[in-house]
Order: sequence, then C-alpha cells, then structure tokens
Amino acid sequence: MAYDRKIDDVWSFRTADTKEFTHCYHNYPAMMIPQVARRLLDVYAPAGKLELVLDPYVGSGTTLVESSLKGIRSIGIDLNPLARFISKVKTTHYDLNLITKGIAYIVTGIILYNPADVINTDFSRISNSTFWYTEETLYKLSYISQLISRLDHSIQDFFLLCLSETVREVSFTRNGEFKRYKMSEKQLEKFNPDVFNTFEKKVQRNLKGLEAFNVTDDRDLAEVYDFNSSKCIPSDIIAEGSVDMVVTSPPYGDSHTTVAYGQFSRWANEWFNFDNAKTLDRLLMGGVISKEVRFRTESIHSELESIKEQDEKRYYEVISFLNDYWDSIQNVAKLIRKGGRVCYVVGNRRVKNIQINLDYFTAEMFEKCGFVHEITIVREIPNKRMPSKNSPTNKTGETAVTMTNEYIVILTKK
Ligand SMILES: C[S@@+](CC[C@H](N)C(=O)[O-])C[C@H]1O[C@@H](n2cnc3c(N)ncnc32)[C@H](O)[C@@H]1O
Repeated sequence: MAYDRKIDDVWSFRTADTKEFTHCYHNYPAMMIPQVARRLLDVYAPAGKLELVLDPYVGSGTTLVESSLKGIRSIGIDLNPLARFISKVKTTHYDLNLITKGIAYIVTGIILYNPADVINTDFSRISNSTFWYTEETLYKLSYISQLISRLDHSIQDFFLLCLSETVREVSFTRNGEFKRYKMSEKQLEKFNPDVFNTFEKKVQRNLKGLEAFNVTDDRDLAEVYDFNSSKCIPSDIIAEGSVDMVVTSPPYGDSHTTVAYGQFSRWANEWFNFDNAKTLDRLLMGGVISKEVRFRTESIHSELESIKEQDEKRYYEVISFLNDYWDSIQNVAKLIRKGGRVCYVVGNRRVKNIQINLDYFTAEMFEKCGFVHEITIVREIPNKRMPSKNSPTNKTGETAVTMTNEYIVILTKK
C-alpha cells in the first residue's frame, strides 16, 4: 500500500533567504523553512475560507509567522516551553519606540557593568552550573536578566529571547550539536565567549527582523498553547471542526534516538525556570516505551516486522513513537472542518537500515480519520538544521546518512 509521491524541485528553495522577518530570531532543531509554509498556504489553501491555521507541533513558530504575514489567525501547540516562547515572541508586534529605548538602557547598563552590582547570584536552578559555565559568564548573564527586568513589561520578552539564545551559545556545550556534550579540553582552551557582545548582536539582528515584521501588519494573530497533542487538545480552546488548515512538521521519531529537542532547549528552559526543563524528552512523542501496539498499518507493516525480527528493543521504540503519533493525528483530525486541509512535512528515517515511510503512515492514518490523500510532494533538504548523520543501528561511532528528502503529505477532509 503506497501513496503517490511527486518529486518537485520548485519546493527545494535552494537559494532562499530563510531568515526574513522574525524568522531570524532564534535557532531551533529541525526548523521548517518559511518558504515551504508560505507556499503551502498559497498553493494548498482549502476551498472556501482560510481563517484559522493550526500547527500542532509548532517548534519555533515558522507556520505562525507565515500565517501572521498573510493576516491569518493561527494557533500553535508545543510541549516545549522554549518552543512556545520563541513562537510567541516571533509573532508579537512589539512597539519599536519602546524597543529602541530599551536597547539604549541595556547598552548603557552594560558599559557600567560591575560584578558587585549583580543581585541574583543563585544559580542552583541550573544543573551543574559550574561544569557548563565560568563564574564570570554566569554573573554577566544574570546582569543582563537584571537589566531586562527593569524595562517596560510589554517588551521584556523580546530581550529575553535574545538572552535565551545567548545562554546556550556562551556555555561549554559543543557548537552545532543538539545534545548536551561538553567541548573537548582543546576547544575549551580557545573558548572565551564575549557574553555582552553575543547578546547585543542578537538584539540588533532581531531588531531588523522586527522592523520588517511590523511593516506588514500590527495585529498579533497567533496564539500558543502547551498541550500534549497526543493526549488532549481541549475543545473549549480549539472547537471541533473549526480549523481550516494544518501546516506542520512533526518529529520523525522519539527525542532519544532522533532529534533531542529537550536537550537542545535545556539551557534556556533551566535559565528561565520553565516547566519540565530536565524531563522534556521523556514527555515528547515516543518518550515512554510501551509494548502495546495501538494502531493497525498496512503501509509500513512489513518494515516494522523486519525491524522486530532484527531488534525487538528498537522495534518497541519505533512503535511507542508511532502510537503517540497516531493518537495525535486522531486529536488533530477532529479539529479540521469539512473540506479543510492538512499538510504534514515529514522525514523518513532509517532504523536497522530499514526506511520507515512516515509519509505513507501519515497518509494512511489520516485516511482512517476521514481524509483523502491529495499528493505527497518530495523535496530535497538543502540546509535543514538536523543531524545529517546519526546512528541508525544505535551503535556509538557507527554513522550513516539518514535523511536526504522531506515529504510533504497533503490530505483533504471529506
Ligand atoms: C520538527 S519540530 C517543529 C519545528 C517547527 N516546524 C519549526 O519550524 O521550528 C517538532 C516539535 O514537536 C514538539 N512535540 C513533540 N511531541 C509533542 C507532543 N506530544 N505534543 C506537542 N508537541 C510535541 C517538539 O517539542 C518540537 O518542538
């Protein structure tokens, strides 16, 4: 059982600027590129109205920003507090006059920095703080927080998001990895981050993004919620049949064996004392192993059986993710109106060298919920921020290229 795929180079966007508007604000693992969300909203908008867009795994809010740019109301859901924070800030039209005053206040404060003026020197909320930071860095970060706390309330989040990226970058974590690995001794010798400069550069970069974003509209059209899309999406917040279109990119496996959203976000989540900072990866899809199979699939049945024959543990890891994914599809499907459309951008990873066609599984599961498959577009991933290599056999040191294409699965509700 297969679903039609169409390779289409139009969707590659090899030379596109992926950091326009507020898309430049903050790094996040496996970001969708804005051009994909934009084109989906343009080309695959459902017949009739397009007034409410949903992203049930909102991550850094790409879909919400693109919906806002088109003047469409949108709702994002994510279990990761950092993801929600990024999404909220990226879709808020902060007052530029206040922001400019805020920048002047912070720049002056930084010039006058004296460690003796730092008020909060309790870093106990940050696990192993002295393993990851020098004392000088911790003091400077705390001082920036202090300066931000004195700004007008309505603009503090804009600056806190710049701090959020800074806390990770000036730590001893290895650059370019999502997991929490400390730099080698050799790297540490050369590493001497300029905390204030790192922060100020982000403020300037994000200011440019905000200026461009504010020109387009002045209404804040996005809402963000902390639901578990696999468990329950409350109908008093999103009524059944109220959503016109879903544009999303779900995880393609559990956080432990694929992309470690929780580990990547822990720097900021701990710094801001956000919920579940230490336990996030276990809460995300596939985070808890179960031996029960809650779905029936024809489209990837033989692949799953082959994995089971080779390695039962890996099989149940995959099943646990697919269970949660199937639950979340049922929750999302209910929210879509008749004639509404879902666009899922998925990756097909390999486990034990067997490709798991998550695009087939996605189409099959939505069809069980009353949707018809329109098309699956295959696009090459030119520069998506995800590990190009990891270990499909789960053995340390063994690598294989696991992802080259992305699959955009498009279905319409009957
Ligand atoms: C591929 S990322 C989304 C990236 C996003 N499209 C962007 O452009 O940044 C998938 C997201 O799903 C979230 N997630 C995983 N399991 C979830 C669940 N059960 N409920 C809600 N969100 C979940 C993760 O925290 C992560 O942010």
